[in-house]
Amino acid sequence: MATVQFRLNGKSVTLKVAEDRPLLWTLRTDLALTGVKYACGEGLCGACTVLVNGEAVLSCQTPVEDVDGAEVVTIEGLAQNGKLHPIQQAFIDHDAMQCGFCTSGMIMKTYSFLAENYQPTQDEIIAAMDDNLCRCGSHVRIVQAIQTAARRMKKGGQG
Ligand code: FES
Ligand code: FES
Repeated sequence: MATVQFRLNGKSVTLKVAEDRPLLWTLRTDLALTGVKYACGEGLCGACTVLVNGEAVLSCQTPVEDVDGAEVVTIEGLAQNGKLHPIQQAFIDHDAMQCGFCTSGMIMKTYSFLAENYQPTQDEIIAAMDDNLCRCGSHVRIVQAIQTAARRMKKGGQG
């Protein structure tokens, strides 16, 4: 067991956990942040993606001890003052989901991608999202949502 401390969605969290406990289970089970999804559990689908220090990481493949001292953001932390983040809003506006299981991971991956490339081409979006799978086949609308989010964020200066 180890004591792990990190910032989670803007608040400080201290936990006593097994060092190798996956961040996914710490978030979902220990901290009830069920927006983080468990799908493959093997690093192959992206459904469990969260931000660690602004980078998209697969929480099923990240031992919780690795985030000691880090800034972690989940889908629950994106909305500010009751207003959805432009990426969340764009996904809704484009109906870029069916079952919604991949959506949190898609949005968190999009967040880190657009932070690096705020004016992506369609090909760059497709390449960046290649490791995030959608079993419902919503990829076309997901790409459109990311294009819209990028446009709106550029205009509004939001990130
Ligand atoms: Fe983590 Fe699939 S659940 S990559
Ligand atoms: Fe169902 Fe993507 S919306 S897996």
